[in-house]
Amino acid sequence: MIVDTHVHLNNDVLYEDLTHYLEKARGQNVEKMIVVGFTPQTNDIAAKIAEEHAGVFATAGLHPSHAPDFREEDFERLQEQLKHPFVRALGECGLDFYRGKDDKNEQLKLFERQVKLAKETDLPIVVHMRDASEATYEILAKYAPIKGVMHCYSGSAEMAEKFLALGLHISLGGPVTFKNAKAPKEVARKVPLDRLLVETDAPFLAPHPYRGKQNDSSYLPLIVEAIASLRGMSYEELAQATSENASKLFRLKE
Ligand code: NI
Repeated sequence: MIVDTHVHLNNDVLYEDLTHYLEKARGQNVEKMIVVGFTPQTNDIAAKIAEEHAGVFATAGLHPSHAPDFREEDFERLQEQLKHPFVRALGECGLDFYRGKDDKNEQLKLFERQVKLAKETDLPIVVHMRDASEATYEILAKYAPIKGVMHCYSGSAEMAEKFLALGLHISLGGPVTFKNAKAPKEVARKVPLDRLLVETDAPFLAPHPYRGKQNDSSYLPLIVEAIASLRGMSYEELAQATSENASKLFRLKE
């Protein structure tokens, strides 16, 4: 059994053929999935999918890519969405200075509000970080210790150590299978086993040999296999450890 800790079954391309993708995932022993929300509407869809399918859980959050579009009422709605029994984390939220260079201030404000809310609600946080390691660290450090995950982590191994020290988990996805991905491979070797998670981030970031194509949770074993081989562990051992970590962090047995 493996757990896909970050999948967007609430994204149109997967949602329109939901049953197919759920079956495809289960065919590869991906028995539990966390559907990650990123806008008010996709948060609701994530919770709905979780209500209707065993082994599926949800998160709710406001993604930095849409930071300038969100209104105060969206934040209020988020507070309500977090009370849903199948919502097990706040996110994804964070900072993306790769795509959003002109809205840094809105991103910073929106992210810090969500970090605060995660602390208040005692929910783990799902952090999206792209080209923004220092700024992300600064905000999270203000609220440490903090539980949650650096999702599809793309920063350096040195920064990973700093996020781990705040109490966070590190999750790796498709890029760890790419030949030229030095940093994720180094991170895969170094993260302590009890802080490591795996994810697809589908429909994005398909692993090798599907790079550039549409991703889905059935490709998760390729990621697990790549990490296991980098760490010199068996597939089974890594699958079990990362599933247990996911179960604990997101309360998947409740
Ligand atoms: Ni995502």
